[in-house]
Amino acid sequence: MTVPATTPDPAADVQITVCADGPLLVRGPIRVVGEDGTELPGRRATVALCRCGLTGRPPWCDGSHKVASAAGRGRRPR
Ligand code: FES
Repeated sequence: MTVPATTPDPAADVQITVCADGPLLVRGPIRVVGEDGTELPGRRATVALCRCGLTGRPPWCDGSHKVASAAGRGRRPR
C-alpha cells in the first residue's frame, strides 16, 4: 500500500491577530502582493497591515492609527 505524500500547508503556520483600533498583525510565511500583482518588499516574520486607512505607507501600518484615535479622528477599525 502506498501512502500519498503530504505537502506541508504553509497557511497552517500563518496567524492573523486583529488589534483593537489598530492593524492586522500577520505572523508566518506570507507574501504580500500589491494590486498590480508585484510582491511588496519588506518580508518579515511579522507584518502589520493597516486597516484604518490613515497610514502614510500603505499597506503597512505606520502607527498613524494611534494619533488619529487619540484625536478622535479617522475610521476606527473594529
Ligand atoms: S492601522 Fe495603523 S496606521 Fe492604520
